[in-house]
Amino acid sequence: MKPSLIVHGGAWDIPDEAVDACKAGCERALAAGWSILTQSGSALDAVQAAVIVLEDDPAFDAGFGSHLTLDGHVECDAIVMDGTTLRAGSVAALRRIRNPIRLARHVLENCPHMMLVADGAERFAADQGLELCPPDNLIADAERDAWLKCRNSKHAAAHHRGHEQGTVGAVALDSHGRLFAATSTGGTCCKLPGRVGDSPLIGCGCYADAEVGGVSCTGYGEAIMKVVLAKTTADFLRRPVGTDPNLSPSILPKPATPDVASLAAREAVSVLAKRTHATGGLILLDRKGNPGFAFNTPRMAYAYVADGKFIVGI
Ligand code: GLY
Repeated sequence: MKPSLIVHGGAWDIPDEAVDACKAGCERALAAGWSILTQSGSALDAVQAAVIVLEDDPAFDAGFGSHLTLDGHVECDAIVMDGTTLRAGSVAALRRIRNPIRLARHVLENCPHMMLVADGAERFAADQGLELCPPDNLIADAERDAWLKCRNSKHAAAHHRGHEQGTVGAVALDSHGRLFAATSTGGTCCKLPGRVGDSPLIGCGCYADAEVGGVSCTGYGEAIMKVVLAKTTADFLRRPVGTDPNLSPSILPKPATPDVASLAAREAVSVLAKRTHATGGLILLDRKGNPGFAFNTPRMAYAYVADGKFIVGI
């Protein structure tokens, strides 16, 4: 089977000055995952490698450089899901893990449960031999400055703008037909401590089913949860758009080359827009590895491989 990989660095109003950094980060993440897939490596290793690159890059809202909570801490969420078994490893409200996706994988592989949060998740991390870092090590200078401005202005919307969402994700299919999807985030700027968004929730920020495809979402978590966006997208892959007479056509512009993957992505984002009036985006691979993506934000950073070439867009 031909391997395939797609990554994203968040759908939001990415300002011009951040475009190059977001594109470069997505390209490096794609290269990290692709080098594994082209050496017959596993889709699980590929999504982990791609997401680690994005978590380590402060251009994105995940791992180091995540947005701060109202109290001035970083709290991260992440998930990885196996499309063959439908099993996931999910973690939330982490303050001391530099790469939350690593811990999500340990939950997937070594834990009887599928989701661990906060202190319990960090205790499991230590038991698994993962390093716990001082919480301040996850705070980037730019995020601390943004948080100080937010706090000093009593959280005026102006300070959150242009700075809202940079959740990251990856979906990979390997040469053995294994499909994995992963998502990682620091959540929303100045969220309440303990707030958990869509990203680590199965079916909301991430879903993988080898029978249909894998999905990673980005956007406003409280809206994405309402429409269970990743599973909704997977359902469109299972029953392609246009085959259900009860569905109204998408409100998003038609893709230049309509295919099942693109149509499913577009239709799902259209459901998000119509039912919640919110913005966001998603990436996907269908079960054969065909990539698709859609967003109703001004921009989304993404990258995928087509005919062996890297396509990087925003
Ligand atoms: N989509 C990221 C969040 O709302 O937490």
